[in-house]
Amino acid sequence: MSKPVNVAILGATGAVGTELLELLESRNFPLNNLKLLASPRSAGNTLKFKGETLTIEAVEESSFQDIDVVLASAGGSTSKAWAKTIVEAGAVMVDNSSAFRMNPEVPLIVPEINPEAAANHPGIIANPNCTTILMAVAIYPLHKIQPIERIVVSTYQSASGAGARAMEEVKIQSQAILNGEQPQPEILPYPLAFNLFPHNSPLTDTGYCEEEMKMVNETRKIFNEPTLKVTATCVRVPVLRAHSEAINLEFKNPFSVAQAREIIAQSPGVKLLEDWQKNYFPMPIDASGKDDVLVGRIRQDISHPCGLELWICGDQIRKGAALNAVQIAELLLEENWLKPKVSTVKV
Ligand SMILES: NC(=O)c1ccc[n+]([C@@H]2O[C@H](COP(=O)([O-])OP(=O)(O)OC[C@H]3O[C@@H](n4cnc5c(N)ncnc54)[C@H](OP(=O)(O)O)[C@@H]3O)[C@@H](O)[C@H]2O)c1
Repeated sequence: MSKPVNVAILGATGAVGTELLELLESRNFPLNNLKLLASPRSAGNTLKFKGETLTIEAVEESSFQDIDVVLASAGGSTSKAWAKTIVEAGAVMVDNSSAFRMNPEVPLIVPEINPEAAANHPGIIANPNCTTILMAVAIYPLHKIQPIERIVVSTYQSASGAGARAMEEVKIQSQAILNGEQPQPEILPYPLAFNLFPHNSPLTDTGYCEEEMKMVNETRKIFNEPTLKVTATCVRVPVLRAHSEAINLEFKNPFSVAQAREIIAQSPGVKLLEDWQKNYFPMPIDASGKDDVLVGRIRQDISHPCGLELWICGDQIRKGAALNAVQIAELLLEENWLKPKVSTVKV
């Protein structure tokens, strides 16, 4: 058991923050002291932890004194604003935002895939994009057996991927539509209830949106395969929680479906779930609240002799964000990697 440490959750009231709280409790994380931080909007509100009532504080310059680990889930601009203060206070920040993911000095970690890369960090470790983590955990065990040459992925992303308020908005919109009203979207750009739309992250000049480019660039960084071919189409769907993904993998040589099933069934962080008799494969309601990424409907691609098709569902708030971050913190404690080995990062 590692020595207990002082932890701060930055963004404690959000979709990811409240899940972090639950995980620290249920996994019995070695905690000495826990501090809950958010914006001034939530200061003074309370959250429960292990039967105790903790008061949320507005983040400020002195918030990180005596803190060992900051689990940050308050968005990219907040992470950028506080990173220097956190690192200078001697804490390590495990950051759920995209602020530092592609910084070459900052490790981008999925503990089941590249734990060793976390050893050399500059006080910041990035948690990958949620959709990318779910795909990476599912396909990396196959990639280890035979390198993947090309990935074609289409995603079906839940409302909670855009935060707690987006999830509430879909519930309110659904009720309004059932009452015969026309709801006005406030958090998401378009009505999501009884609808879907291509992912709402900004478009880049490639014609791909930022979420799609995260899947491309972050998968390459996590796998340490800078030229891996990846193309993604990301779609927001009116599901409250858990993302689904249809993944087509191309290998150099044929990859047998039976072997793929066997590997998935034995790999950490994933669970094979398929009943071909019943036409039953992973659904968001199966994945919600679960740690494992569910994988099923593994098929030979009939259009390509070296292609495999997979269908996955995973709780993007849990393995796609909070659980992966807590696993990173646990790894740092177990390996005694809390102190930065790389001196500075430009923040
Ligand atoms: N939701 C997901 O599935 C998911 C998955 C992977 C990664 N992420 C990433 O995780 C981060 C949090 O996402 P979320 O979905 O949890 O968002 P959220 O539900 O909207 O929560 C945002 C949190 O950040 C806090 N916050 C906002 N502005 C702040 C500021 N200026 N200073 C301090 N705290 C501030 C909020 O506090 P108040 O209560 O005071 O407003 C709240 O606690 C984002 O970077 C997101 O991209 C989310």
